[in-house]
Amino acid sequence: SPSLTTLLSKLPQVPHVAGTEPERGVLDLFRIAIAQVIVDGIPSLTVEQVYAGVDFGKKGNDFTVALPRFKLKGKPDAFAKQVLEKFQPNEWIESAVSEGIFLHFQVRTNTLNRLVLNQIHDLTYNTASKEPEYGINTSGKGKKVVIEYSAPNIAKSFHVGHLRSTIIGAFLVNLYKACGWEVVSINYLGDWGTQFGLIAVGFEKYGSKEELEKDAIKHLFDVYVKINKDAETDPNVKVEAAKFFKRMEDGDESALSNWRVWRELSIKKYAEEYDRLNVHFDEYLGESLVGKEWQDKAIDRLNEMNLIEDHDGMKLVNLEQWNMGKAVLRKKDGTSIYLTRDIGGAIERYEKYKFDKMVYVVSAQQDLHLAQFFKILKLMEFPWADKLEHINYGLVTGMSTRKGTVVFLNEIIKEATSVIYEKMSENAEKLAQIEDPQYVAQEVGISGIKIQDMSAKRINNYAFNWQRMLSFEGDTGPYLQYQHARLSSIERKNPELLPLPSPEEINTDLLTEPAAREIIFHLATYPGVVRNSMEKSEPSTIVHFAFKLTHAISSAWEYVLVKGEPDLEKARARMFMFLRARDVLAAAMRLLTIRPLERM
Ligand code: ARG
Repeated sequence: SPSLTTLLSKLPQVPHVAGTEPERGVLDLFRIAIAQVIVDGIPSLTVEQVYAGVDFGKKGNDFTVALPRFKLKGKPDAFAKQVLEKFQPNEWIESAVSEGIFLHFQVRTNTLNRLVLNQIHDLTYNTASKEPEYGINTSGKGKKVVIEYSAPNIAKSFHVGHLRSTIIGAFLVNLYKACGWEVVSINYLGDWGTQFGLIAVGFEKYGSKEELEKDAIKHLFDVYVKINKDAETDPNVKVEAAKFFKRMEDGDESALSNWRVWRELSIKKYAEEYDRLNVHFDEYLGESLVGKEWQDKAIDRLNEMNLIEDHDGMKLVNLEQWNMGKAVLRKKDGTSIYLTRDIGGAIERYEKYKFDKMVYVVSAQQDLHLAQFFKILKLMEFPWADKLEHINYGLVTGMSTRKGTVVFLNEIIKEATSVIYEKMSENAEKLAQIEDPQYVAQEVGISGIKIQDMSAKRINNYAFNWQRMLSFEGDTGPYLQYQHARLSSIERKNPELLPLPSPEEINTDLLTEPAAREIIFHLATYPGVVRNSMEKSEPSTIVHFAFKLTHAISSAWEYVLVKGEPDLEKARARMFMFLRARDVLAAAMRLLTIRPLERM
């Protein structure tokens, strides 16, 4: 970008370090400058080597380097002295001090302010893609990932496990894209298995075309519940169901035609709800679409390895030597099961996508299942078998609404929306100013659900708590939305400062308050935070960043005034800073699949 290049040309040059992307995050340059200072004092080291050891500082220091990590011959504190003797403050680094084996550095505030805020502005408004790009990197360039997530079962309830997979999976799609990967997102529907034989039998008794058209998801679920009840007293129901499913597996068209309609109508309904959640899939696959060929080959191959046991026609694979127990691969009547479909499905997906990685976002309750089918693919010697990754997550308890136990996704969205709407209605005056309060309530409610879900490490269990997640206070989704709307209101509330001069003409040297520096430094860390989040596929890393940012903004709000600041140049610099904070908060929210609101 031209303006950043111009700014950099006025500063002392720093060397390039492999793996850094200063054009994506200028903090890299400050780190390199620090590495250079250390190399100047200890010429036996290289900038690359030292760069890796420049950590964020504690106790108010920007950066800290622990000298022992370089395994120097001699006393670390003597080397620290040597560095300080040579050190001259420059436009990158304001000060350096030693503390025993540590060297602490403060970066130059003026340089930091100017570079960071300009870079955010550039990468938000002047990108080739026309999309905001601050925070993204190119680490995954040229690589393709398949991400499978959500995966609800047709005719069964959409439980909180599916909700978590949906929320975390949609985030991972954004995260991989932000890291330069090509992403294929897949919804793998539970649209096959004996239960469809059961529904078919139930549909003959209880089905209604009209109800089905109205709400396929609900109607099929009702039918399923009713026929399950019948099956409790009438053993014949299950026998009929198994027969019916066998016909489906054998490709009997007369057994498949209804099922096809159920599937299609369910997908249509789901797609609407995913859309409200800001979730989209490249493909709706499903267990039904997995071919038989590979399922058979898998059994043959495992047979050769002496891992198959036959229990009167039922085929089991014995994975006990890997502590993964025994698992059924095929039933007596020859029909496939969940595990075999996953094996066949993975092979087909590799043939189709030639992925560099495939991610399954599935509850930790299925750890064993995933481990088993990954293992079987390894035993089959597929070279890509170790490119599969299970992203798991913990349990959620207590998801029910005021009406009772939650069964469908739309009930969750409705409940969140109505709770928020009630809260908004408490302030009639404010409510009247909002153009589409129903939409705002829904977005805020959905933000609440998503943030609650991604706040802690994904493997943790948590208790679903409407009151807490939908509160406007504390670290919640509604609070993030509120902070974003508040930052967005700065322009509306200070028209006398507009239009702002072009970014290069804003005097960012006037941002001298510690609270302002705190915000700007935090903004500068965002590209690195995205990389850290990617390393562990952790949404909580981004959520944590967003809250730390909003806290820094909150504490600056009363001291770093825009309205009421008599020096217009200063007021404009502050407005510029708060707007860039808004941009980065919005970027983090969008990465978390949340649509930031301008007003609420
Ligand atoms: N539909 C399954 C369930 O609800 C989850 C599917 C997970 N994905 C997979 N490839 N097994 O339990």
